[in-house]
Amino acid sequence: MELLKSLENKEICYFCLPMKKYIQHPLFKIITEAAQQLNVEAYVIGGFVRDIILERPSKDIDVVAIGSGIDLANAVAKKIGKRTKVTIFKSFGTAMLNYKEYQVEFVGARKESYNRNSRKPIIENGTLEDDQNRRDFTINALAISLNQHNLGELLDPFNGIKDIESKTLRTPLDPDITYSDDPLRMLRAIRFATQLNFSINEASLKSITKNKERIKIISNERVIDEINKIILSPTPSIGFKILFDTELLEIIFPELDNLKGVEVINGQSHKDNFYHTIEVLDNICPNTDNLWLRWAAIMHDIAKPSTKRFEKGHGWTFHGHEDKGARMVPNIFKKLKLPLDAKMKYVQKLVRLHLRPIALVKDVSDSAVRRLLFDAGEDIDDLMILCNADITSKNPEKVKKYLANFKLVKQKLIEIEEKDQLRNWQPPITGELIMEVFNLKPCREIGVIKDAIREAILDGDLKNEYDSAYQFMITKGKELNLVPAK
Ligand code: CTP
Repeated sequence: MELLKSLENKEICYFCLPMKKYIQHPLFKIITEAAQQLNVEAYVIGGFVRDIILERPSKDIDVVAIGSGIDLANAVAKKIGKRTKVTIFKSFGTAMLNYKEYQVEFVGARKESYNRNSRKPIIENGTLEDDQNRRDFTINALAISLNQHNLGELLDPFNGIKDIESKTLRTPLDPDITYSDDPLRMLRAIRFATQLNFSINEASLKSITKNKERIKIISNERVIDEINKIILSPTPSIGFKILFDTELLEIIFPELDNLKGVEVINGQSHKDNFYHTIEVLDNICPNTDNLWLRWAAIMHDIAKPSTKRFEKGHGWTFHGHEDKGARMVPNIFKKLKLPLDAKMKYVQKLVRLHLRPIALVKDVSDSAVRRLLFDAGEDIDDLMILCNADITSKNPEKVKKYLANFKLVKQKLIEIEEKDQLRNWQPPITGELIMEVFNLKPCREIGVIKDAIREAILDGDLKNEYDSAYQFMITKGKELNLVPAK
């Protein structure tokens, strides 16, 4: 953070062109020349400038022209040559091109007023200051000049540098205007707070709650995009706590919001399942970048509110929450516009099985371990990561004991897996073979025989090999009054 320190201490003043060294790439020279020829001013603006100061290298560059962004993009493309393709979004007045490792978006400076019921802006040309005004956060409104007379000058009208230093997200205008103009920014604030570990200033937080209903005009696809970015951050609980506190969670993902709260009967309470869930999510992060495994952590206890009972002598129970939770996954994924393919099935499977490794701590018999390996298949390692993350007791002795037992379970899983190779295992006798041997058309008996073979192998009563299983099939068939064809 040396650059940030020197900017903050004014060791180098803005007018001493401190940012020049960050615009040395030939691309910037081309933009400077093209802008000069068109007689317009051009600035690098937004996330790219913010990320220089945060020392997070970025490949997306936004350029604002005081004039037509599309004309500037075309002029730049012409200079680059080699049939550089410009993609134009006429209705937004923007244009995009790729050059070497960079993706560059050009836009004309705008003074924007928004349509209240959609995010479609009514575009009016504006100055650089107008354009900076209409951006989401002070840290995203920083600009670097690409113009000959002040090349490399940093333009920071809202003290964005100071906000980076104090790790604060603040809107350039009154937050009610900024958020109401584009309600997606409420989620962007929470997403940046989570990714960068920044705090959102008080006025903004209040304004988010005040404007929360306006999130409904944003498409579910855009919403889930931000939520997934929160989930993929190092500590996603930061974002989920803010989503809860601002009451956006209630609107976006009511099932998760519903996990919040502790009930007490006869002096007995259960844990707060919302905080537990986001703790499990944080716990899993160092062990996986897989978005869907992180989603499984979010969903693992989702059915706890609807399965909660207080049983005399027992206390709080959540019987069947794993099955009910798995059944809730498709609807929730559909509503949130998440994929309904194998990724959803994977999340469902992990939710359904999430208690099984824990149960093994009590019964670590070979057959129980074999059954888990069979049911989890190739997802067994991910299931174990989820279960490990699920151990969140506040009592360190209890956690120590659980983790030690869990280690034994893991050891046993490895031993049995090596011995029986049950991952991706298919029983040695197929339905087709049963039909052929007993000369059957598709019928219930085939399933009965197949299940019996699988159960006998999983119980360890039958060897996992063809000859023994074949004999077993003949015996079982006879019990069902079936006669082998040959
Ligand atoms: N912006 C905005 N309001 C939005 C989206 C974007 O004001 N709803 C502005 C911000 O100045 C932002 C710039 O447009 O910096 C570019 O937006 P985008 O590429 O979406 O975001 P980045 O800030 O670059 O960050 P990230 O790539 O992480 O999304």
